[in-house]
Amino acid sequence: MKFTVTPLVEDFVAEIPDFPFESLDDETIEQFRSVWKQYPLIRFRNVKIDDATQVAFSKRLGPPVIHPRQLQQGKNAEFPEILVISNKKKVDGTAAGDLGDGEVNWHTDTWFVERPPSAAILRSIEIPPEGGNTYFANMYSAYAALPEALKQRLKGLEIHHQNVIDGRGEVRLNKTKPDNEDYATWSGVDHPIVRLHGDSKKPCIYLGGEPHRQAIVGMPQAEAKELLADLWERATDKHHVWIQQWQPGDMMMWDNRCLMHYRDSFDPATTRLMHRTTVEGERPVAA
Ligand SMILES: [Fe+2]
Repeated sequence: MKFTVTPLVEDFVAEIPDFPFESLDDETIEQFRSVWKQYPLIRFRNVKIDDATQVAFSKRLGPPVIHPRQLQQGKNAEFPEILVISNKKKVDGTAAGDLGDGEVNWHTDTWFVERPPSAAILRSIEIPPEGGNTYFANMYSAYAALPEALKQRLKGLEIHHQNVIDGRGEVRLNKTKPDNEDYATWSGVDHPIVRLHGDSKKPCIYLGGEPHRQAIVGMPQAEAKELLADLWERATDKHHVWIQQWQPGDMMMWDNRCLMHYRDSFDPATTRLMHRTTVEGERPVAA
């Protein structure tokens, strides 16, 4: 192998220093894929690549997803595959990237579309001295830890993920907020609560994002609210969570099908700049 793998958490997190991004052959990609199947969260260290190399690596893993906000704002015009995540401001005072400096609640990326991404790759360029850590929760172990009766109850259940309000409570582009709180009737997509991962074929919990505006298909709202609150709490329990404290040269790649993530806030006087690429995924299927 052209790279070494150090497990950090069994079947969850592994670290790869000095990955040969500049000299990728098919064999190396295949070996990497099999590592990633076992460890859905990879921390690359000592990464010294540019945007072009990140995009090329990402494309070896699947077709790119071009984020709608990236297209609208043109924050990285040369590489539309890259989503700029930053609290930096341009000289005119407008945001140079997405997500600002605040906390970002637990979610999986782009959960409200038919085929949410399979992978996200986040390369640090500037990191704040404190905060801005990324938390990851393992939805394989969260599922395995559920009581048997709850696993049975979840069989066949789907969440209706509305696509009107985003994770920050803002109305999405070209959407209008309905005049009611019956989220089951809002536009959106349905995904199974327990999905079978397309590569590992293992079951995992899939909750998406924005927990306060979800419905369960065919279930009265009060009952769904209670069940969802219980699931969100179980899924993000600290036993399933690992925290990435960013260091210069770090790049994280996570499996967006079986992990959730969260970011804590940081001092707005400091700078955090990340470049993210995203890989297309499959339609979630029930486990
Ligand atoms: Fe995210």
